[in-house]
Amino acid sequence: MNIIGKKVKRIDGIQKAEGTAKYASDYYFHNMLYASVVYANVPHGILKSIDTSKAYELPGVVYVATYKDVPGINKFGHVVKDMNFLVPVGGKIRFEGDVIALIAAETKEIADMAAKLVSFEIEELPPVLTIDEAIKDEVIVNGTSNIGFHRKIRRGDVEKAFKEADLVIKMDFETGYQEHAYLEPQGAVAYYTPDNIMEIYVSAQCPFYVHEDVANILGLPLNKINVIQTETGGGFGGKEDVPSYIASKPALLSYLTKRPVKLIYTREMDIKETSKRHPSKSYYEVAFKKDGTIIGIKSKVYLDMGAYSTLSPIVMYRTTIHSCGTYKVPNVFVDVYGVYTNKVPCGAFRGFGSPQVLFAIESVMDEAAKRLNIDPYEIRMKNTLDVGNETATGHKLTSSVGAKKTLKKVYEMSNYPELKKLVDNFNKTNKYKKLGLGWSHIFYGVSLGSGGQHLDGASAEVLIHPDGTVNIMIGNTEMGQGAKTTMAIIAAEVLGQKVDKITVLQPQTLVIQDSGPTVASRTTVFSGNAVRIAAEKIKNNIVEFLSNYYGVGKNEVIFSDGKVYIRDKEFTFEEIIQLCNKNNVKLSETGWYKTPKLNFDHEKGIGEAYITYTFSTQLSLVEVDKLTGKITLKEAWVCHDIGKVINYEGAFGQVHGGVIQGMGYAIMEEIKQNKGKILTDNFNNYIIPTIKDVPKNIHVEFVEEEFNEGPFGAKGLGEPSLMSSPPSIANAVSYAIDKRITKIPISMEDIINL
Ligand code: MTE
Ligand code: MOS
Repeated sequence: MNIIGKKVKRIDGIQKAEGTAKYASDYYFHNMLYASVVYANVPHGILKSIDTSKAYELPGVVYVATYKDVPGINKFGHVVKDMNFLVPVGGKIRFEGDVIALIAAETKEIADMAAKLVSFEIEELPPVLTIDEAIKDEVIVNGTSNIGFHRKIRRGDVEKAFKEADLVIKMDFETGYQEHAYLEPQGAVAYYTPDNIMEIYVSAQCPFYVHEDVANILGLPLNKINVIQTETGGGFGGKEDVPSYIASKPALLSYLTKRPVKLIYTREMDIKETSKRHPSKSYYEVAFKKDGTIIGIKSKVYLDMGAYSTLSPIVMYRTTIHSCGTYKVPNVFVDVYGVYTNKVPCGAFRGFGSPQVLFAIESVMDEAAKRLNIDPYEIRMKNTLDVGNETATGHKLTSSVGAKKTLKKVYEMSNYPELKKLVDNFNKTNKYKKLGLGWSHIFYGVSLGSGGQHLDGASAEVLIHPDGTVNIMIGNTEMGQGAKTTMAIIAAEVLGQKVDKITVLQPQTLVIQDSGPTVASRTTVFSGNAVRIAAEKIKNNIVEFLSNYYGVGKNEVIFSDGKVYIRDKEFTFEEIIQLCNKNNVKLSETGWYKTPKLNFDHEKGIGEAYITYTFSTQLSLVEVDKLTGKITLKEAWVCHDIGKVINYEGAFGQVHGGVIQGMGYAIMEEIKQNKGKILTDNFNNYIIPTIKDVPKNIHVEFVEEEFNEGPFGAKGLGEPSLMSSPPSIANAVSYAIDKRITKIPISMEDIINL
């Protein structure tokens, strides 16, 4: 490898550091209007009337749009179209962030003022605010029952396994919300080009979702709308489906006024209206043999979907598949339920429904280890997956299973036996400050999985210009995770051009084919393969030409690091491209990669769930102050098997960021609500980790068990980087205080009150 796996500076780094990168709020157009949003601000009720007349009287107000102004379908929902874009009179309000009207005005200030002048009446209904209330079905939030969706795994004979067990661990768990806290809030600008195309500049992970949804709302054909992804200041899943709901607002107002319209959310709007990680309640029973072998799992998991289904049914698929952890479990009986409540709709968030259950199963593993007097490392080693084993859904793994290696690596990196002695000695001599060590061992299905195969394709366009510089456009997005650099590295490796001669463009939906959503840690595998395929096609065109031109064999043309070698001659890449260009060689190609077919029985929850899995292990060292309740993550050792590492610096950064975002979820971040209203509506009261909370040492290593379908053998890392952290930290805290933590976030009060 020339460049794959080496340290490469991120190609979009300079403009982001200097502040010249253009985010949605940086777009201005002549004659542009500003939008504002009128919210229901009531968790449950029926909309009785809307009066826009006062708002219209305010000078500078250009349009006040309600449901009556929607020319297309006034509904959203990728699985079930159950959410109104603008609530109609007579329709139901299901959470405080339901939208009643939209304002377009000459200035932002006028638009905000006008929003307050829209009056409406709501007949309030009793709100359903918790999972326990919801499942009683006394007040129905949405559909015909508050239990909207159910997924399951039925494998083997669970009753028999529990009869044969030496130890049964029965534990209940609870997890809270998590806000994505991307630094750039949601926003979009709509603008008509001179040829009457509506352009939408939007901060988004999935421009094709915005394309489809805006087309539905406006009743326009897809070729009249161009969705252009702006630089995106973080998504973390929060900009998967949500940008459709955001962008449709300025899009409608622009459609109605024929002027450009801008809508940038404030943090308060963003926290009120947009998705979060699902809170959960789960009930686990796990059967073990004396030696620590798991023989069966029974579990029931409830996810709080909030008011609308949005992506919950897909999130629940991942919850189900990951519910038994990274282990061989022959007998499985799992039920996952999605429950409606009168709160913010929950959706995609890094890990996509798996962190909730991985916290549960990894806590059970530690508890079992303790009761059976086995080391937490050993019990994981005993049960983890290897080549030839089957996952809990009966997916037989034939290659690329580095699970054991990640465990071993963390054991070695941390010098575990010594570390454990140090910790235990410290705890013997300190009364109020306690140290804790906690393991976690997780896996993650890369790709959209068996249910999402129709979306699991990706496109790339690669173009070499006459001066030898290269442009790439992919249908997936850069949202901070480093995809652009990864794509440039792959193209550079194939073409032999240098990375700094390659520019990766923001995707536009009128230019590149729908490549599915940029989620599921799939970009490296899917877009990476598409780039590889396109670049290989171009390279073949060049080699074909050169071998004829110089009368040499094709294998005598060698590309490497900006140079081309033909027998004993050496050329620069640029010289060769000039020559190709003068000889009409085709220097642009499209690459398309689609997922291999998966066999899965959705009724039983059995089969090949994902195309491959990433395996990870984390060991965390925490300090707990029993007097103040403060928990400090002091050090972490992390190892991921991500197949071939393409972008080393990017991967390293993902692990650091993931560990810290996972730490926020485990011990800091808490959405507080009162009667369905979110109180923690900004970062002064929704507390996320800052640089001060980052430990000095997060040790990172990779295992490279190559995935033969992946580009150069790569898998995915974006989400697992977070997922290993919460259970590892919770287990470390449990160790420190010698009591089992079963609820996250763990607050300082929790520690003091224990
Ligand atoms: N890293 C940064 N810096 N910003 C992000 O928004 N999103 C995460 C993860 N890492 C995110 C991130 C999520 S939710 C996903 S699905 C993956 O990146 C997507 O990118 P990938 O497919 O390139 O892994
Ligand atoms: Mo990531 S939650 O799959 O966008």
